[in-house]
Amino acid sequence: AHNTHNAKLVLLGDMGAGKSSLVLRFVKGQFHEFQESTIGAAFFSQTLAVNDATVKFEIWDTAGQERYHSLAPMYYRGAAAAIIVYDITNAESYARAKKWVQELQKQGNPNMVMALAGNKTDLEDKRKVTTEEARAYAGENGLFFIETSAKTSVNVNDIFYEIAKRLPRA
Ligand code: GTP
Ligand code: MG
Repeated sequence: AHNTHNAKLVLLGDMGAGKSSLVLRFVKGQFHEFQESTIGAAFFSQTLAVNDATVKFEIWDTAGQERYHSLAPMYYRGAAAAIIVYDITNAESYARAKKWVQELQKQGNPNMVMALAGNKTDLEDKRKVTTEEARAYAGENGLFFIETSAKTSVNVNDIFYEIAKRLPRA
């Protein structure tokens, strides 16, 4: 039998980490060097076939600017999955990602599938956050870890595919 599941997914992370760019790459196959900073949040949907099922992702791309922080619970509440994004060239964005993980662990859906995405791997020469430390942190906190580039599209579809595989089947 072919089943379609809806899955609410939220992206969280510091401004400029590349949340919108990851979504734009996944949904439209595009990348913009001058991607505009998100205001409030933006909604997208995209289906993905995984094994014998189809997952319809309902994606909330939130705004990373601090002044929008108080809106975040509206988007992560009831979400089946979250992608917490940081920029591998920006240590502050990694610290911010860990804060989001803490907040979701306290306030989010306890069965939420969480992914930690270290984005901008095309900027390897400017890397500030090592793969090893982020992978260790993700492991300790039960998150799925992946490094991505929205620019070159490395591992972008894989994040969504891995999340889809981990979602509990209704
Ligand atoms: P807010 O909406 O402000 O929270 O930011 P955001 O997390 O949505 O970041 P956004 O996708 O707007 O990307 C910020 C900047 O980083 C843009 O200029 C993008 O072009 C750039 N960017 C995003 N992903 C990558 C990447 O993988 N590699 C490189 N080199 N630049 C990227
Ligand atoms: Mg954005």
